[in-house]
Amino acid sequence: MAQFNPKEFAEEKIRLLRREINGETAIAALSGGVDSSVTAVLGFKAVGGNLKAVFLEDGFMRIGESEKIKRVFRGLGISVEVHDVQKDFLAALKGIGDAEEKRKAFRETFYKTFSRIAREAGAKIILQGTIAADIVETRGGVKTQHNVLEQIGINPLEKYGFKIIEPLKELYKNQVRMVARELGLPDEIVNRRPFPGPGLSIRILSEVTEEKLSTIKKATSIVDNELADIECFQAFPVLLEGKATGVGEEASRKYGYMIALRIVESKDAMTAKYVRLDWDRLERIRDRIISDIPEVSRVLYDITDKPPATIEFE
Ligand code: XMP
Repeated sequence: MAQFNPKEFAEEKIRLLRREINGETAIAALSGGVDSSVTAVLGFKAVGGNLKAVFLEDGFMRIGESEKIKRVFRGLGISVEVHDVQKDFLAALKGIGDAEEKRKAFRETFYKTFSRIAREAGAKIILQGTIAADIVETRGGVKTQHNVLEQIGINPLEKYGFKIIEPLKELYKNQVRMVARELGLPDEIVNRRPFPGPGLSIRILSEVTEEKLSTIKKATSIVDNELADIECFQAFPVLLEGKATGVGEEASRKYGYMIALRIVESKDAMTAKYVRLDWDRLERIRDRIISDIPEVSRVLYDITDKPPATIEFE
């Protein structure tokens, strides 16, 4: 794309969405990240009350996330419906350890859930914040992104009963942020670090259990809190497979989870470089994780770039 003009882009997409939705009811699948937020606001500007913004509390979101999204969107004059579907997602992922199987089970549950919600709302259109990097990676076979269907030959209308519109599918992250700024989204959304659709389910490198989920949620809060002020593309913990021996209370044996920290710099998520965080910071995160989460015995730092690694571990 030559010189990208976010204002023209937004105006053009709003016109297009108005035409495509054409007086019907549409649903915006809102996760609270910059991509889905921009998509929802474009949709809202296009058709106003004919758009329902829906946030799925699937159990793999960060602590306090649904309240945060409701608050931010209230400030934009958009009310968000939160659907608590944690049980369905936990059941769908039960017993699955393999990364790709987990991603596929997540994707299936995600679309089935939206299929039900759309049917109940009388909607036949879902707006989704898929961006170019999501499609490139899924097509390339690196990993199954939760939000890519048509591009790999699945027809959502036939399979789930709705049409998907992806107004941002040609854009990369930096361009989406430009559009977000243009639309007047608050900085906390414009500058938000990416968070994967399948959420914390893919940051547990083995079968998901309630204990592991609660462990990664606590670790994620600590890392978010400790690193809120640093410049980076993403910063997050991952719960590794297996356990390691350590020393617990009163010099007893402690056999606990291992947490890896992943902090990367990137422009478009297609390549990334690990961040040389200063040791004091790393040690502070280590101390908080070990002292606040008794189930964890070790904290490791990932120094792999993308490539050869990917940003997420699964
Ligand atoms: P990877 O791990 O492929 O991630 O280097 C590239 C970027 O995409 C995010 N990511 C996802 N985003 N659905 C999403 O919406 C997904 O299934 C998904 N998987 C990875 C990841 O956090 C990084 O920003």
